[in-house]
Amino acid sequence: MPGNQPAIRTNVDIRHLNSLGLPCRAAGWCRVHHWSALQQALADPRFAQQPHLILGGGSNVVLVDDFPGLVIQPDWHGIDIVAETSRTVSIQVGAAEPWDRLVRWSVDRQLHGLENLAAIPGWCGAAPMQNIGAYGVEFSDSCVAVDYLDLSTGQSHQLSAEQCQFGYRHSIFKTTAAHNWLVTGVSLQLARQAPFKLTYPGVREALDAQGISEPTPAAVAAAITRIRQRKLPDPASLGNAGSFFKNPIVSRATADALLEQHPQLPHWPAGEQVKLSAAWLIEQCGWKGRRTGPVGVHRQHALVLVHYGHGNGRQLLHLAGNIQQDVNNRFGIALQPEPKIIQSS
Ligand code: EPU
Repeated sequence: MPGNQPAIRTNVDIRHLNSLGLPCRAAGWCRVHHWSALQQALADPRFAQQPHLILGGGSNVVLVDDFPGLVIQPDWHGIDIVAETSRTVSIQVGAAEPWDRLVRWSVDRQLHGLENLAAIPGWCGAAPMQNIGAYGVEFSDSCVAVDYLDLSTGQSHQLSAEQCQFGYRHSIFKTTAAHNWLVTGVSLQLARQAPFKLTYPGVREALDAQGISEPTPAAVAAAITRIRQRKLPDPASLGNAGSFFKNPIVSRATADALLEQHPQLPHWPAGEQVKLSAAWLIEQCGWKGRRTGPVGVHRQHALVLVHYGHGNGRQLLHLAGNIQQDVNNRFGIALQPEPKIIQSS
């Protein structure tokens, strides 16, 4: 089937395929939208002994070294309604659809569920990986199932939302079980009517500022987009991967001890445990707005590391390491990076 053959390019500069804009050359690169094309790409003798990297929108990766193997970008597209009732609309979405396009598609149809997740960079296939979340809503709240191909067997599978083991910035797709899986699509259920989630600080204020007392999904998505634009840099003009660290989740006892010394530390319940603001911890260590050569910490948000250009992944990791060390020394908290770090050693 010649139409399904992937066009593999060699020695490709993939700097423009990661939102941090980090320099990286991939030994091979291709886009695939069919299992047989994928099979051929994986069997290519030039890359057979090398690792492969599945890359979506590149908004949650740190490329540290040149990549010795094949970079595969899934090319499954489409947003299709698969079932409708008087209360819900079920959709199937291809992995390569940009996430924000899906959000706009849903709010344009007055559907509820994704409006708080507006303006998140990246593709739909990556959404289940870290269970993207913002302003009180997570991907898992609408997810019904995720489809993936197991590259070691060629079989396609579907996992129910429960099987995906979603947690805070976590899912089965981040575990070693999934290292050979390629997500091809996601199934979501959206609602025709649902209460809005407007309790996250700033959301209701942003609607009030527009004089909106009875919001629509589109109005909430627009308000969230404005809030994000105020705090988070646009990767098109300043390289970044959103939050660089997860908000740490600690025991009640650890939180109480810290809060006694630092009563202003923003914190939220997380089941039996407590989630702390990583941004606050970093800011207290004096990192907010600091630049070291081509990399730095964003001026508006201490959790966002930025790449000003002409730097590399090692410099970014070095900065991240210094921040982790300072936060650990001062507060005894080990910050965990949120993006996937791709390095050879
Ligand atoms: N804060 C500081 N200093 C700062 C920024 C924030 O002290 O420089 C404090 C704020 O005062 C606030 C608290 O930190 O009390 C939380 O800040 P924010 O509302 O900006 O949220 P966040 O916890 O820093 C998380 C997600 C974001 C998501 C927002 C909104 C993680 C790791 N990050 O950030 O997700 O947009 O909440 O829901 O959970 C991403 O994952 O890439 C991302 C941007």
